[in-house]
Amino acid sequence: MIQVLFVCLGNICRSPLAEALFHLHVRQAGLSSRLGCDSAGTNGYHVGERPDPRTRRNAQSHGLELPHRCRLLTADDFDRFDFIIGMDEQNIANIRSLCHRTTGHYPPDTQVMLLGYFDPQRDPDGPVPPVPDPYYQDEEAFEEVYQMIDRCMDPLLAWVTKR
Ligand code: 4NP
Repeated sequence: MIQVLFVCLGNICRSPLAEALFHLHVRQAGLSSRLGCDSAGTNGYHVGERPDPRTRRNAQSHGLELPHRCRLLTADDFDRFDFIIGMDEQNIANIRSLCHRTTGHYPPDTQVMLLGYFDPQRDPDGPVPPVPDPYYQDEEAFEEVYQMIDRCMDPLLAWVTKR
């Protein structure tokens, strides 16, 4: 089974939404027996909590429930997950640093990637866009996060199944 882990800072806004949307797209593609997913955060402020109420409200407006409980990224995630997908460059730096600190080596570039790499609206010659942190933003920012994550899902699905 191919395992995909979505990672952000708090694991209460962006990554639990990415996990739920990936799960939905996998189910719609009939690939549930081949693909698993989870999400985690690089900081522990909200461990054990449900996703942020604003994220849940936004997801519900799209008919999506978020059953995840916040957890921290751990050293064994580097063994368990084929792909670890970060939301912004700070997440990637934190993921790589945890891997180095706990295993003594950096993860391969093919394992740790930015979700924005798969954004069909991005400039292929420009920098990979982040999924911006909505935590200190308004409801509109949460909807923009939803739209960006959603449009990255099918290209990501195609990528992980062809590897
Ligand atoms: P997330 O958003 O990384 O998308 O889950 C945040 C959640 C919590 C905090 C920052 C960002 N925080 O500082 O508590």
